[in-house]
Amino acid sequence: KTPDAHVPRDPRLIRLTGVHPFNVEAPLSALYNEGFLTTPELFYVRNHGPVPLVEDEDIPTWEFTVEGLVENPITISLKELIEDYEQLTAPITLVCAGNRRKEQNVVRKTKGFSWGAAGVSTALWTGCLMSEVIRRAKPIRRARYVCMEGADKLPNGYYGTSVKLNWVMDPNRGIMLAHKMNGEMLRPDHGKPLRAVIPGQIGGRSVKWLKKLILTDQPSDNWYHIYDNRVLPTMVSPEESASNPSWWKDDRYAIYGLSTNSAIAYPAHEEQLCIVGAPQKYRVKGYAYGGDGRRVTRVEVSIDKGKTWRLSNIDYAEDRYREGYEQNLYGGSLDVPWRESSFCWCFWAIDIPVEELKGAKDILVRAMDESMNIQPRDLYWSVLGMMNNPWYRITISHEN
Ligand code: MTE
Repeated sequence: KTPDAHVPRDPRLIRLTGVHPFNVEAPLSALYNEGFLTTPELFYVRNHGPVPLVEDEDIPTWEFTVEGLVENPITISLKELIEDYEQLTAPITLVCAGNRRKEQNVVRKTKGFSWGAAGVSTALWTGCLMSEVIRRAKPIRRARYVCMEGADKLPNGYYGTSVKLNWVMDPNRGIMLAHKMNGEMLRPDHGKPLRAVIPGQIGGRSVKWLKKLILTDQPSDNWYHIYDNRVLPTMVSPEESASNPSWWKDDRYAIYGLSTNSAIAYPAHEEQLCIVGAPQKYRVKGYAYGGDGRRVTRVEVSIDKGKTWRLSNIDYAEDRYREGYEQNLYGGSLDVPWRESSFCWCFWAIDIPVEELKGAKDILVRAMDESMNIQPRDLYWSVLGMMNNPWYRITISHEN
């Protein structure tokens, strides 16, 4: 019996670590088939330890504090948070910084477990802006960071990390305190009853089971902030990083905004394409996302190892939510204060004539965002194997 015996889980999820803690992704094709919004059952899970047990009747009285460099430290219950602060609902994609790490582990073993390309999921999150809560606590001038702490007790203390205060106060960054996903209360694995949602940034900043917001003049000194979610220079080996802690203490290597990325969901690895008769085109498709609210502006596919590229179609379902078409689905205002940011993945598709695929050895995809950040050809190996985003590749084998 694991400490998480109380948590319901879907058998389709693929376990990436042992029995405990729980770290899972859906099969990529199943994730893709769910469409723009991921059902909570297939939403990826990244837990560092046990899931805190919160009974339904205790949800309204769940309390968290705002403390540190503030004039007016406050304790707020979830009931007060819902009643006293304007609630909004928005689709936001979360991505684990380890998404696609498996490819790094193939090149050289990292310190992290092997995510495929399904360490990414999207939900409609309901809650309030974190800035509203912080404003009431009145930050003092010296405050520059918001440290967050969860309720999950881990070997090195509670899980915690920080983001910059000016990001939190910027409505275009959409930083939220969420208590619902897809119109239901949060599932235990996703932070029941309250979590931070930091759009456009690596999932590790979106602290689950949130208990504390602490304003400081320095980034978080939490163990998980320092020894996790960093991209150290590529020459730092596991041994070197273990013997020389100064690598970890260098804040330049902390990662926040996601790197532009994409993956091919169809065809899947090892999928057998049985092509007979018409239609003589195969639809290659997948997802892409930018970081820090940047929109994906193109997705390109190559079947000749990157010599030439074809432009794929892109569907940004996020726009339809922004325009309010699907407003009545889950309740809550979708009139979000961020107008210029894209915080969701998009889906892309391109039809390739089967005749041309017959001569191909592989299919490659790469995305570019509005700042012209383009996925690189080569992988940048680092000791934690994070932010992996080179061209995504599916190999093709031909039976005859
Ligand atoms: N918050 C707490 N309290 N404990 C955790 O282990 N994991 C982080 C983040 N927040 C974590 C946490 C990481 S690394 C990621 S990628 C996201 O939660 C994953 O969120 P999800 O499990 O809801 O997909």
